[in-house]
Amino acid sequence: MYFYQKELDALKKADRLRTRKIFNKNLIDLASNDYLGLSSKKKLLKKAYKIVKKDKFNSSKASPLVNGYSNIHKKFEKLLCKINNFENGICLGSGFLANIGLIESLIRKKDILFIDQEYHASGILATNLIQDKVIFFEHNDYKDLETKIKENQINNTQRVVIAIEGVYSMSGDIAPKQFNTIALKYNAILIVDEAHSSGVIGKNLLGWFDYHNIKIKPNHIKMGTLGKAYGSYGAYILASNHIVSYLENRAKALIYSTAISTFDIALAYINLQYIIKHKKKLKTKIYKFHNLVYKKLSIKTVSLILPIIIDDNKKVLQIQSNLLQKGYLIGAIRQPTVKKAILRVILKLDISKKKLKKILNYLKN
Ligand SMILES: Cc1ncc(COP(=O)(O)O)c(C=O)c1O
Repeated sequence: MYFYQKELDALKKADRLRTRKIFNKNLIDLASNDYLGLSSKKKLLKKAYKIVKKDKFNSSKASPLVNGYSNIHKKFEKLLCKINNFENGICLGSGFLANIGLIESLIRKKDILFIDQEYHASGILATNLIQDKVIFFEHNDYKDLETKIKENQINNTQRVVIAIEGVYSMSGDIAPKQFNTIALKYNAILIVDEAHSSGVIGKNLLGWFDYHNIKIKPNHIKMGTLGKAYGSYGAYILASNHIVSYLENRAKALIYSTAISTFDIALAYINLQYIIKHKKKLKTKIYKFHNLVYKKLSIKTVSLILPIIIDDNKKVLQIQSNLLQKGYLIGAIRQPTVKKAILRVILKLDISKKKLKKILNYLKN
């Protein structure tokens, strides 16, 4: 008997066994989170390489709190702060680390975290570190959140932290603006995970705060990732000077981890400049894709995630496999990532309208 044989057999039986695969690079990719299609733009890569080549060191070598912090990190953080109107910002290795770091450090002894039950797995995992200080509310339900805040009779020695996502990674829906109203009303810190909203929604394609036209206040924390619309790898946290200073001193995922690679930051920096410069063109294409999805499937999409519920693990794999043979790659997402199996179609902007029409017609049938 091999270790974990039973567990693996059970997963196989339920059509839930996952494996890593290398897909043919020529497939039309509707599965990855490269929303704006920047990951194949070689000109941007060259520009990023030039930045790193000029530097004396190829890698960051240490934690940002030792000597892993360099000019390119600072430059990128400054740009993020300027466009998003935040006082301060800090980059770190990944969105997964950012969620662990935020939740583990911000919720102290008497504090309470209210978190959307569909928050990303990294945030949910982090709640295990603060156990009895966590309350889950129904997905995207700000009324349920307020009821639960009231039920808990928070006193003024306790801090309240609320955690939501700008755009939810599986359902593609946007958190309503009322979450901000409630955060202000109860003097709560509001963490917004913008992994799937930065670069995708908002007047300036900046994400959730931009989309709802929310003025940034000291209670706001914006966490964003670089591995999705920004076409690189890593993450950032934007907040007030006080909160960033606190994280530098208490967030173990930041303090005890090597600073994100200078190349990843240089690439994100170049890509972000590209997004700023081309935002009008990018937004036009996003609207065109939304209209096309509505025309073909009568589904109103608000982000670039189009989930189609199939609720059958075997069937999603079959549909994925049929589409692979036609040259298209789409996500087949099963439990525990989602409650019911879905096809996760990403409306990536580097796909032609003609190709998108084809796939939407296929899905309609
Ligand atoms: C909502 C959300 N938050 C955080 C993460 C983690 O980000 P990263 O891939 O940079 O670790 C993801 C990644 O899939 C995500 O979807």
